[in-house]
Amino acid sequence: MRILVADPVSAEGVKLLQQHFEVDIRHKLPPEELIRVIPAYDALVVRSETKVTKAVIDAAANLKVIGRAGVGVDNIDVEAATKRGIIVLNAPEGNTVAATEHTMAMMLALARNIPQAHATMKAGEWQRSKFMGVELRGKTLGILGLGRIGAGVAKRAMAMEMTVLAYDPFINADNAKALGVELVELDEVLAAADFLTLHLPLTPDTKGLLGQDAFKRMKRGVRIINCARGGIIDEAALAQALQDGTVAGAAIDVFEKEPVDPNNPLLGLNNVVLTPHLGASTAEAQVGVAVDVARGIIAALRGEPVTTA
Ligand code: NAD
Ligand code: MLT
Repeated sequence: MRILVADPVSAEGVKLLQQHFEVDIRHKLPPEELIRVIPAYDALVVRSETKVTKAVIDAAANLKVIGRAGVGVDNIDVEAATKRGIIVLNAPEGNTVAATEHTMAMMLALARNIPQAHATMKAGEWQRSKFMGVELRGKTLGILGLGRIGAGVAKRAMAMEMTVLAYDPFINADNAKALGVELVELDEVLAAADFLTLHLPLTPDTKGLLGQDAFKRMKRGVRIINCARGGIIDEAALAQALQDGTVAGAAIDVFEKEPVDPNNPLLGLNNVVLTPHLGASTAEAQVGVAVDVARGIIAALRGEPVTTA
């Protein structure tokens, strides 16, 4: 059996695969090259950089399993894979804490202008009055998507004395209540939130969920954090809302196009905090997802039961 590791994953996961199979590590393959080499492989390991399109899947004559070392499978054509009988599995838990903590870091950085203040100090300035912040205590946090990361953010936000509201049509109100979170409709979250954080997948239903119309329904001066997926927020509409004051600030880790284009409208704004898709980038999380996905691939190729994405 041959495995292709097409994106950087932690050595611990690769070593585990090497104990059982022949493993080739080939990162940043252009799409046409991936299509050319894929027939030789039984399993493919990716993070979010490699796009596993229908064309790749159609060419994958021997592929039995695609392992995603992370949560989101929006870079994989799951429908095309399923039609071909190819298992798609992910590592849904290994990076939960990393993404949760990154969200908290982004929310605090946004509230206190930390990157902007840091940049002025590095430039030799001492600016105190320019960087008046706001407290989290007493504010309402709106969470869209109360899954693993959303729930982790809710717990930490309550420790910071925030009131937490959430919108998630797929979870049980009792589970939310047990967490101390009030589950409400989308419009209610949008209208009440001082801080709004996104923790839902990118799907045809959530693409563009926060656009011009949604910004109009928010409290003026809301601060928005997106450590979920680019494309859930319409970036052009967000840039406009940041410029006209509808949105006071945004902390964004994920983008419609990654790596971002130099002309992305968010890059030129001062009231944003930006990171290059670092939500899962902790040593612990990367070992966790790589080992989980390697175990899943080993089980799938042995014909043992696996949980699909
Ligand atoms: P999860 O599956 O545990 O939770 C997602 C939640 O979203 C679920 O509770 C689901 O019911 C809810 N949901 C689905 N569709 C919805 C809709 N239309 N409206 C409201 N809620 C909806 O996933 P998770 O592990 O919490 O991950 C959440 C997101 O974070 C995913 O998009 C994932 O890809 C992303 N993520 C990003 C990073 C990063 O590096 N920035 C790291 C990990 C995860
Ligand atoms: C995920 O969905 O797990 C994250 O975006 C992190 C990653 O891509 O590694």
